[in-house]
Amino acid sequence: MHITEFSADGFRNLHQVNFAPDQRLNLIIGDNAQGKTNLLDAIWLMTGCRSFHGLKERHYLGFTADYFQCRMRFHDGRREQEIKYSQERSQQRKRKISLNGVEILKTGSLFEAFHCVAFSPADTELVSGTPEKRRTFMDLCACQLHPGGMQYVSRMALLLQQRNAGLQKIIKGRIGKETALLWDAQLSDAGVHVSQMRANYIQQIAPLCEELYHVITGGTEKLEISYRSAFCDIDALMHLSQEELKLLYQDMLKAHLAEDLKAGYTCKGVQRDELQLLIDGRPVHLFGSQGQKKSTALVLKLAQAHLYNQKLKRSPVILLDDVMGELDEQRQKLLYRTVEDMQVFITLCHASSLRLERSGKIFQMKKGTLRAFSSRV
Ligand SMILES: Nc1ncnc2c1ncn2[C@@H]1O[C@H](COP(=O)(O)OP(=O)(O)O)[C@@H](O)[C@H]1O
Ligand SMILES: [Mg+2]
Repeated sequence: MHITEFSADGFRNLHQVNFAPDQRLNLIIGDNAQGKTNLLDAIWLMTGCRSFHGLKERHYLGFTADYFQCRMRFHDGRREQEIKYSQERSQQRKRKISLNGVEILKTGSLFEAFHCVAFSPADTELVSGTPEKRRTFMDLCACQLHPGGMQYVSRMALLLQQRNAGLQKIIKGRIGKETALLWDAQLSDAGVHVSQMRANYIQQIAPLCEELYHVITGGTEKLEISYRSAFCDIDALMHLSQEELKLLYQDMLKAHLAEDLKAGYTCKGVQRDELQLLIDGRPVHLFGSQGQKKSTALVLKLAQAHLYNQKLKRSPVILLDDVMGELDEQRQKLLYRTVEDMQVFITLCHASSLRLERSGKIFQMKKGTLRAFSSRV
């Protein structure tokens, strides 16, 4: 998969950006606060996911712009496609998205059409942050391999909200206890799908992560990653039928209803799952050094990119925001090797911090405007 043309105007500080990226390597060079991250965020927007560094949709529009418009043409290995994404200030910032000329209302079709893996320094949060960060990571990665999976993730969140609101009503005596059970069948169905998807993904990615980590540390440290389902063990998840699992899930909800009513929310379920990360047998988030956390996050992302390529035979576009300067030569090499056949965008302040092993195009970002350098790397 590669982007052939990209333009953005009015998105954050980007001003009439319009360029044809190299099919392999693109370096975006510029001082701080010029718009390099904004450009990668504009590209990331095309995946239909939320900003990779946590921006809210209302923050996309440039301070003084009346609208923003991003347009991207990309080749997905079979055909060329086009995404347009715009937002106008005057219309309550309502967004307008089209895929190949057809207007779309939900971003799900973008997510299925265009695949990207982004790395940024904030990714260490994936390791040291809350379990929710790791659950979201598992869900996004798994759904990219299983289109349609997103509907279960969304349903799960919605049903859980409804059940929790229901629990509150029961506590206040507005509805009967038995009403809680009405949600349980649907919640179990979504919960089982989500946990199976997560388990499958982690089973596939675990050996890759362990191998990559072995390379990074020269075999001196051992990384183990595993999926801890809050509702049943991995063996059962992989071997029981969906019907059997759904019944187990329903039983679990039923058995904990009293606890739920005490707490005021649903205590048991996939909303409590964890992606366990151990280095030499100890949880990285508790005992890992900053460097070990960074390497673990890098390895999770690299394995994600590698797995896509392997499974979908369509390599994702790679966005590396401000990470190269932080990686030593060994990690840079590993990164290049893993994303070898993929289109890569790298932002950095000075090209000198980079050990390049391939050719590509250089661009300079200055005050939101992108200028192509005539020289190639
Ligand atoms: N909504 C916005 N409208 C216009 N400019 C913005 C907006 N949000 C952020 N900026 C500007 O974008 C710049 C930061 O861009 P960023 O891409 O993070 O820089 P870089 O990655 O090059 O360091 C800052 O100058 C900031 O003022
Ligand atoms: Mg930046």
